[in-house]
Amino acid sequence: MSLDNVEKLLKDAIGLDRETVGASTVQYAVKQRMAACGATDAAAYWRHLTTTEQELQELVNAVIVPETWFFRDPKAFDVMTAHARARLSVSQPLRLLSLPCSTGEEPYSMAMALFDAGFEAGQFQIDAIDISTRNLAGAAHAVYGRNSFRGADIDFRARHFEKLEAGFRPHAAIRDAVRFRLGNLLDPAVPPSETIYDMIFCRNLLIYFDRDLQHRALVRLKQMLATDGLLLVGPAEAGLMGLHGFSSLRTPMAFAFVKGGRVTAPADSSRPQPTAVSIAARAAPRTAETGARPTPSRRPFSPPRALPAATNAATDERPTAAAGDGLSAIRRAADAGRLAEARAAAQGHVEIHGPSGDAFYLLGLICDAENNLAEAAKHYRKALYLLPDHPDALAQLALLLRRQGDVAGARRLTERLNRLTERSVRQ
Ligand SMILES: C[S@@+](CC[C@H](N)C(=O)[O-])C[C@H]1O[C@@H](n2cnc3c(N)ncnc32)[C@H](O)[C@@H]1O
Repeated sequence: MSLDNVEKLLKDAIGLDRETVGASTVQYAVKQRMAACGATDAAAYWRHLTTTEQELQELVNAVIVPETWFFRDPKAFDVMTAHARARLSVSQPLRLLSLPCSTGEEPYSMAMALFDAGFEAGQFQIDAIDISTRNLAGAAHAVYGRNSFRGADIDFRARHFEKLEAGFRPHAAIRDAVRFRLGNLLDPAVPPSETIYDMIFCRNLLIYFDRDLQHRALVRLKQMLATDGLLLVGPAEAGLMGLHGFSSLRTPMAFAFVKGGRVTAPADSSRPQPTAVSIAARAAPRTAETGARPTPSRRPFSPPRALPAATNAATDERPTAAAGDGLSAIRRAADAGRLAEARAAAQGHVEIHGPSGDAFYLLGLICDAENNLAEAAKHYRKALYLLPDHPDALAQLALLLRRQGDVAGARRLTERLNRLTERSVRQ
C-alpha cells in the first residue's frame, strides 16, 4: 500500500486535498487505524480498507479536522437572524442548513441565536450534516467542554445550557431544533436535491478541497440555496466566492454572501451593524484600548483586540495613526476579497512603517485565503515573534498547523491561547 493510494481514496471519497492537509495528517490517521484494527502490515490494511465500507468511514473519522466552537465568527449569526426576519414572510418555516456541522456547535448556535432573536420553534428548521460518524455521535450526545466555549462572551451558556458533571448540555428546545444527518457535500443526493434552504452555513470545509472540488461544491451549494438565500463561509474561504458568482453582503467579519450580483439582505434592525469606520476606529488606537477586556477572536481580517500585556520582542508595536489607518484599509480590502491588493498594501505597510505584528498577521491571513500555507505560517510566526500574545495569530496558526498534520504544534498553540483567554477573563 502506498500513501498515494490512500490519499487518492480519501480525495475521491470526501474531497480531502493532500496539499492542504499535509501528507503527515494522512500518515498519522493510517497509523492510528492500522493499530486499531490490528493490521500488521500496510498490505493487509489496504485490503481491509478497500473491502470494508466501515473501515473507509473510520479512516475518514480519523483524518478529518473537527475544530469548531459555539458562535464561531459571531457576526455571521447576527446576519443570519437579520436575514431570517426578512425571509419569514416569504418562507415559513425557515429552512437552514449547517454543512459541515462537525460536533454540533454551529447548528446549536444557529438555534440559540434564533431563539434569542424571538423566533419560535415552529418558525424554523435546522438541518445539520457531516461526513464523520464520530462527530455526529458527539453532536447527538451534546455534552460540551471548555474548548467549545471560546472568547469572553459566553453569556449564552447560562441561558441555553444545563450543567452536567461532564460538561454543558444545550436545553431540549435547542437540541430539538436541529436534525442531524450523515452526508457528504460532494454527493449530489445529499441533502435530497429538492431541498432548498433560506440560509446555508458551509464554513471551514472548502479550504480542504482543491480548486476543482471547491468549484463543484459551490455549484452544489448554489443549487441548494433559495434565490435570495444567504451563504455563510469561513474567513479563509471568502476570497473564493466572487469567482463563483456570489456577492458579499459586505458585513465585516460575517463572511456572508448572496447569489449573483445583487446584495439584498437587510440591515439588522436590532443591533448596530459595524461599519468600516467603526472597525478603523477600533483598529488604530491599540494603546487607547488598554483596560478593555480582551476578547480573543478567531475572526480573520478583524482588528486585533486589546491584548493583555502584549509584549513586543523586537519593536515598539504602537502604530501611529497613519499606520493604523493603513492597516484598516488593508483589512477592508481583504474583507472584500481583494487579496492581491491587500497583500501589496500590507507589504508596503511593512516597508514604510517597519515590522509590525498586525501587518504580518494580515499577510498570514491573505496567504491563508490564497491557500499558500507555507507563507501563511511564516507570517503568523513573524506576528507572534513581535506580539507573542496576539490571540488571532495564535488561533490561525494553530488551525493551520492542524490542517498540515502538526497536531502537537497546534495543541501547544491552543494551550497558549487558552492560558491567554483565562488570564484575560480574570483581569
Ligand atoms: C473544521 S470542521 C468545520 C465545522 C463548522 N462548520 C465550523 O466552521 O466550525 C470541518 C468538518 O467538515 C467535515 N467534512 C469533511 N469533508 C466533508 C464532506 N465532504 N462533506 C461533509 N462534511 C465534511 C468534517 O467531518 C468536519 O467535521
